Amino acid sequence: MEIKKVGVVGCGIMGAGIAETCAKAGYPVIVSEVNQQLLDKGMATINNSLSKAVDRGKITDADKATTLGNIKTTTNMEDFKDCDLVIEAIIEKLDLKKKIFADLDRICPAQAILATNTSCLSVIEMAAATKRLDKVMGLHFFNPVPVMKLLELVKTISTSDETLSAARVFGQAIGKVVIVAPDAPGFIVNRLLCSLQAEAVRMVETGIATKEDLDQGAVLGLNHPMGPLSLLDLVGIDTALEVMNYMYDELKEPKFAPPVLIKKMVAAGQYGRKSGKGFYDYKK
Ligand code: CAA
Repeated sequence: MEIKKVGVVGCGIMGAGIAETCAKAGYPVIVSEVNQQLLDKGMATINNSLSKAVDRGKITDADKATTLGNIKTTTNMEDFKDCDLVIEAIIEKLDLKKKIFADLDRICPAQAILATNTSCLSVIEMAAATKRLDKVMGLHFFNPVPVMKLLELVKTISTSDETLSAARVFGQAIGKVVIVAPDAPGFIVNRLLCSLQAEAVRMVETGIATKEDLDQGAVLGLNHPMGPLSLLDLVGIDTALEVMNYMYDELKEPKFAPPVLIKKMVAAGQYGRKSGKGFYDYKK
């Protein structure tokens, strides 16, 4: 099936990036939030990112205007009724996601593909909240979405080949390189990343390395674009804790157990860049 119009549920860091990326590729996009204030915040994120892309010579001012013109906003999910693909990008709470999928199943056309941007949760459990298990899958983007090249296509035991191939065509049309991942905790990339990040935090927590040396080591010794602690600040310490908790619960492997320091940081509201402080200070 051909994807002509895209819906995005949630306009936080990931939802805004997904909406921007699809709109920049020429798709009409409708993005929803629970209230106007969050929609305004999300649209400001998109506007800033597009301005940055103009400043870096990636797009022109005219491209920016066309992209913004491709995005409509709503606080009413019923407005997804004519979408061919809807991508859910809300917080990592399975119960909330299941409710969204049940609503989307009622609202969207029978042939529409329903996707989740979850970074680790079970996609089949969301699919089971619908009556179209063959048309539900994961589309896992990476942060910052407009910059990162990869898109993981997550195939459940019920996703049809037709759905997967439509998603592959879509992923390539929005400029991503796609890989197919199984519906297993953390898929491919977060399974790798989660153990690296947990180990990095444990090394700092136990005094093996300073946070600066550890990040510097990963950047200059492994050619990572940023160190694991800086990346935790970018992704969000709260999100990372949810991912680690889930991975550990599901896989029962100690390497995924969330370090105590991560739990303390979340309790203190040190979520990383979004709260102004994480492993590093962003208030300046
Ligand atoms: N739109 C389009 N392009 C943009 C842009 C934007 N808003 N912002 C930056 N760019 C482009 C720049 O033009 C530049 O392109 P060139 O290399 O062709 O010149 C490139 O992106 C890098 O930009 P900057 O020079 O501004 O920034 P940087 O070099 O400091 O890199 C970064 C910033 C891309 C974030 C880099 O540090 C990086 O790749 N970090 C690692 C990110 C990562 O690992 N993400 C995955 C997180 S895990 C995840 O997301 C999974 C999950 O489920 C939570």
